[in-house]
Amino acid sequence: MQRIFSGIQPSGIPQLGNYLGAIRNWVNLQADHECVFCLVDMHAITVWQSPEDLRRQTLTQAAILLASGIDTEKHILFNQSAVSAHARLAWIFNCVSRLGWLNRMTQFKDKAGKDRENHSAGLYVYPNLMAADILAYKATRVPVGEDQKQHLELTNDIAQKFNHDYGVEFFPTVEAVIPPAAARVMSLRDGTKKMSKSDPSAQSRIEMTDDADAIALKIRRAKTDTDVLPGEEAGLEGRAEAKNLVTIYAALADMSVADVLAQHQGEGFGPFKKALTDVVVNAIAPIAQETQRLMQNEDHLVSVLRAGAARAHAIADPIVTEAEKIVGFVK
Ligand code: TYM
Repeated sequence: MQRIFSGIQPSGIPQLGNYLGAIRNWVNLQADHECVFCLVDMHAITVWQSPEDLRRQTLTQAAILLASGIDTEKHILFNQSAVSAHARLAWIFNCVSRLGWLNRMTQFKDKAGKDRENHSAGLYVYPNLMAADILAYKATRVPVGEDQKQHLELTNDIAQKFNHDYGVEFFPTVEAVIPPAAARVMSLRDGTKKMSKSDPSAQSRIEMTDDADAIALKIRRAKTDTDVLPGEEAGLEGRAEAKNLVTIYAALADMSVADVLAQHQGEGFGPFKKALTDVVVNAIAPIAQETQRLMQNEDHLVSVLRAGAARAHAIADPIVTEAEKIVGFVK
């Protein structure tokens, strides 16, 4: 059985893009993989998080993952900082990875923008820690949204260079598992930007804890054009916002974009947004409700994460200890 590793930053409340691009895929992959899912709190602090927010967001995310169907009886869920193997291997990878490689990372460029000098060194070496997350478990499949593809290519570059420099066949090649639909959900306010939990506008995203009223309002206010829905996909070209809403509908209703268009052809956005609201509420509301219930028992969430961390440590510690021996660290 292949081992899966994936992570999510507790840097806000997960949004619909996280759900469609990653979490839903994680839930489905549990049937035939050994899964390790991680709340990457060390990644989260590469940009400022108040300690109280970080703590609360970590527990909320744990609750959302459980409510979405992550099965911690069979699989592992924990927070990154609780397993020291991640930091140990990340340091080795900081020394394997090249500055030239990191300079090409589009996510760093997007996040740092023009004000590069004022960002943390952690944000810059973020992808090395991500490589360590995956390879500390020798995971071979990584379910992510499209925006993480470049980081996984870097992970393979690091693994290859490590193996080559030390003359070993130690780290495997990793494969991105990107969902066929909605791998890149866009902002509700701007169809050229991806939906993000760190966007300053809460109107730009549907959060996994939103209730039906909040969802309806955000969809009603979502940016669209004045045209009606076309009968075919080609008619969505150049209409980023319209395409995004149709894609979300199709992904949540388990339909193809072509079938959604066949059903709603000629409709204006008034009625389409109402139908979309129903689809989104149907998918999200039960998860939001269960999340709320789980959040009432923080001790339980902490104990789930602790048990997950112990199991994660049992896998990662021997692998990273072996990597340290390969490097020449006296053990
Ligand atoms: P993060 O927290 O930004 O996002 C978590 C997952 O959600 C996906 N995602 C999206 N998918 C579709 N549309 C969107 N608008 C959208 N926004 C986010 C992301 O692709 C991701 O799969 N670096 C990672 C966390 C990480 C990780 C790892 C992932 C750390 N270590 C090891 C995999 C393996 C990140 O920032 O995710």
